[in-house]
Amino acid sequence: MEEVQVSDVVPEAARELNVRSQDPLCAGASLSYLDEALTPTRRFFIRNHFAIPRLDPTSWALSVWGEVGRPFMLRYEELKGLPSKELVCLMECAGNSRFTMQPPAEGVPWDHGAVGTARWRGVPVAAVLEQASLRPNATNVLFEGADFGKERTAPGVLAPTEGSYAMSLPLEKVLDPDTMLAYEMNGESLPAEHGYPVRLLVPGWYGMASVKWLVNIRVLNQPFRGFHENDYYVFVPEGESDAPWQRVTTIRVKSLITWPGRGGLIPTGSHRIRGVAWSGQGAISQLEVSTDNSRSWHQGALQEPLSPYAWQRWEYEWEVRKPGHYLILARATDSKGHTQPLQAPWNFRGYAVNSIHTVPVTVRPGD
Ligand code: MTE
Repeated sequence: MEEVQVSDVVPEAARELNVRSQDPLCAGASLSYLDEALTPTRRFFIRNHFAIPRLDPTSWALSVWGEVGRPFMLRYEELKGLPSKELVCLMECAGNSRFTMQPPAEGVPWDHGAVGTARWRGVPVAAVLEQASLRPNATNVLFEGADFGKERTAPGVLAPTEGSYAMSLPLEKVLDPDTMLAYEMNGESLPAEHGYPVRLLVPGWYGMASVKWLVNIRVLNQPFRGFHENDYYVFVPEGESDAPWQRVTTIRVKSLITWPGRGGLIPTGSHRIRGVAWSGQGAISQLEVSTDNSRSWHQGALQEPLSPYAWQRWEYEWEVRKPGHYLILARATDSKGHTQPLQAPWNFRGYAVNSIHTVPVTVRPGD
C-alpha cells in the first residue's frame, strides 16, 4: 500500500519532490533523500492547506496583541535586528506515513516523505512577548498565518466558512526558549512555500503547529476554539464513542530505513543498512534492526544528533550469504522508554503513524 499516485505537473518549488496534491500544494521527499543529517531545502517536504500567500517584507508587519500591556507591530527588519539563535530541528507532518495505515486513513496520501531536518534561524517568541508585556491572565497564544480559504474536511467536502490557518499553543510551550519566529532555513531566507517572510517553529511538536506566513500573534486568556486545532488536527474516536477528542501535539518515536529501498535487488555479501530515527520526547537510546521479518533483532549504531531536536542517523552492517527474499525492519526506542509499535493505533485521520518501517528486498547471488 505504499505506492501513491504522483501528479505529472510539477511546480518549480516541488521539482525534486513527489507531489501528493497540486491545489493546495503538498509534496514529499523520496526516502533516499532523507539519508542526510540536514535535508536540503529543495528536498524538504511542503504541506499547505491553502494557496501560498506572496508577502512583501517591506510592508509585512507582525501584530502582537491581546492580553498584553503594550501591543505593537513588529516589522521584518526589526525582527531580524533582535538577538537571534540557530537551531537544527526536525519537522514531521502529523499525517506522515498515513498511507501505510490499514485501512488507509483520510487525508493527504503521504508515504514517508513528509519529514525533514533543517537548520533554522530566528528569534525566540518569548523575547518578543517580553516586549509586549504579558498580562497575568495570559494562558494561550494564537498564531495566525496570512493564508486562508475553505478547508477540505473530506474528499469533495469543503468546510462551510472560510478561515485562515491558525493554531494556538499553551503559554508554557510558547515561552520555551526554543520556540521561535524563524526567518531563515538552511542559511537562506525562508522560501515562499516554507512561510516567507516569517514562520513559527515549534520543536518537538508535529509540523501543524509551526504556522507559516505569520501575521498575527494574539495572547489569549483561554484556550482557542479554532477549526484546525479543535476539529482537524485531533484524534477523533470512531463511531459513537464519547471519548474526548485529543489534540495532536508531540512527535512520537519513529525511524525510517533510507537504504536499501523498497523492492531493492542486492547481491549476497556485506551491506550497510542505513536510516534516520527521532522522537519529540527525547534522544534515541536504541535502534534495532531485523533482517528476518522480526524473528531476531540486532543493535544498530547510532550517530550523535546535530541538536536535541534533530534526527539521528543510524546504520547496521548486514552480512547476507543466502539469496532470497528478505524483510528488513527498524525499531527505535527513545530515552523516555517509548518504542515503535509494529502497527500504530488506527485513527480516523491517520495521524502520528509511527509503525515500524518494513522494507522488502531481494538478495541475488553475488558476483
Ligand atoms: N502554516 C500555514 N499558515 N498554513 C499551512 O497550511 N501547514 C502546517 C504548518 N504550518 C500550514 C502552516 C503543516 S500541516 C505542516 S506539516 C507544516 O506547516 C509544513 O511546513 P513546510 O511546508 O515548511 O514543510
